[in-house]
Amino acid sequence: MCGIFAYNGKNNTVPFLIEWLRNLEYRGYDSAGLFSINNSWEFVVEKAVGKVSNLATQVEKNIDKNISYSNGIAHTRWATHGKVTQENTHPHYSQSERFFVVHNWIIENYMTLKSELEEKYNFYSQTDTEVIAKLFEELFDGNIISTLEKVTEKLVWAYALAVIDKQNPQTLVGAKLWSPMIVWIGQEWVFLSSDINAVSHVATQFTTLEDRETVVIKNGKYEVFSLGNKVEKDFEEVDDRFQAADKWLFETFTEKEIHEIPTVLRNSLKWRINFETKSIQNETLNELNEMDFDRIEIIASGSSYFAWVVWASWFKELADIQTEVRISSEFLYEKFIPNKKTLYIVISQSGETADVRECVKMIQQKDCNTFWIVNVVWSTIARMCDMGLYTHSGIEVWVASTKNVIGQLAVLLTMWISLGLDRNLQMKDAKSLIEKLWELPAQLETQLAESQKYTDLAEKYKKYNNFFYLWRNILQGTAAECSLKLKELTYLHAEAYSTWELKHGPLALIHEDFPVVAINPMWSLREKSISNIKEIWARNGTVLWVISKNDSYREIYNDIIEIPETHELLTPFLPLIPLWLFSVEMAKKLWKDVDKPQNLAKSVTVE
Ligand code: F6R
Repeated sequence: MCGIFAYNGKNNTVPFLIEWLRNLEYRGYDSAGLFSINNSWEFVVEKAVGKVSNLATQVEKNIDKNISYSNGIAHTRWATHGKVTQENTHPHYSQSERFFVVHNWIIENYMTLKSELEEKYNFYSQTDTEVIAKLFEELFDGNIISTLEKVTEKLVWAYALAVIDKQNPQTLVGAKLWSPMIVWIGQEWVFLSSDINAVSHVATQFTTLEDRETVVIKNGKYEVFSLGNKVEKDFEEVDDRFQAADKWLFETFTEKEIHEIPTVLRNSLKWRINFETKSIQNETLNELNEMDFDRIEIIASGSSYFAWVVWASWFKELADIQTEVRISSEFLYEKFIPNKKTLYIVISQSGETADVRECVKMIQQKDCNTFWIVNVVWSTIARMCDMGLYTHSGIEVWVASTKNVIGQLAVLLTMWISLGLDRNLQMKDAKSLIEKLWELPAQLETQLAESQKYTDLAEKYKKYNNFFYLWRNILQGTAAECSLKLKELTYLHAEAYSTWELKHGPLALIHEDFPVVAINPMWSLREKSISNIKEIWARNGTVLWVISKNDSYREIYNDIIEIPETHELLTPFLPLIPLWLFSVEMAKKLWKDVDKPQNLAKSVTVE
């Protein structure tokens, strides 16, 4: 989604702004722009629809290379208010073209503000951000910080803002409410960014602004204020939790990230499991065991939601804890009956997803316990909740989530073993599970080595427009997740359905051009599902069967994907890599942009 980057310092800002906007590209966006100025009041405004490379070409053509600009703001826009046009691209400016603004998130009362301002000002765009620029002019009192506070007081809901007043060309100001804004310092410059991954490999220290804090940056020095009072901030060192987003030798980020999975899994497990003693060792999990709760409610969206679906039934059945899984956007608008004996767990790769974050607010307002499972270090949700665990998946750059889903599953599994041991899970069962977990990363590595197979399958299946992904029981989350990946990467229709439920209606859709991806390895419900697949086969259905390597029953399929055998509880992990790679190869064959699927964004920061 939208991304902000701002720079104030001694060097020429323009190349920095373009370069760092490229680091925000992974979030998904449809236009980009920048404003830069120097102490002699020379300035440049450029906006381009499409990729940052379009903006770069435009800048290359239009700007005078002998001029250096020391203060600048830049933005990638993911359209919400108004179409993808140059007029709607940020930065937006006030009537006199004095105040330039970039903004993330949504101002819910912008229509009201706009109709009040329209008597006096002409609007050139359909955006909510232009209202902020006009408000600056309307409320300016001679001091940019007090004006910023007056402006933000009028805004309903969330924002991260960076603003430059052309009359004060050395100064840059920023503010935030519910949307992240990070201040980075280096030797001769200060950066602002809305994304913790974007500039971490060049900065030495960073701090995050709290809600309603404002920052003033002048000549490479900064000051932070809260409601007019100066605030001293603690800075963190940038360390190896932040790695530069690099594609290495892979054709797409997606493939690179899928190939990182065995490492992600090893990392995630090593933080919490001692494989020598086959025991869980983690302070947070110990603390969790001390807490008094008899129910878990799990809240997430998209792939993070499907990760929970996988494990919820096991929490319930094996750790004896009543567990509900909720889609965050629905949870938010249903009647909330707070329960002090419920542990509310939120899960999010980005730690910024708007509806998940709003759920945390709602739960905390009722004094209930919140626990996070998040990937992005220092993200909003991680900082809001009472306690939590990182997935340690490293930076996930592409829009569709893969390696982090595995990281989430690993955390959930460790949590489940820890909670289970405190309840009715036997030590010997936990140990045998931990033994199998130890083997899992190597098993996943063997799957990665078979990528030619998925290319061949994609060649054969690219002609179909509709797919069923069939599941039963613990495989539901896996099937739903893999069908989501096919949809988002190829734009084909894919639906996850219970194998048994099929005959209660959807079987009517089955014919040879409507393939089913039947996920049915060796596990307790294998026999029963075979009968259902036979029903599809009898109706000339096309079957792509995900089957265990050592399964000798091989009669009713058109194609197979073989997966290694493991502990039944770990089965949901194993179809993921093959079916994700299948989707990637399908997308490539259909000439889709694998890393940046149409209409989607990485951090969904608007409701
Ligand atoms: C799908 C995907 C999305 C995200 C969803 C939640 O591949 O990436 O469905 O899972 O937008 O995002 P997070 O986990 O950041 O809250």
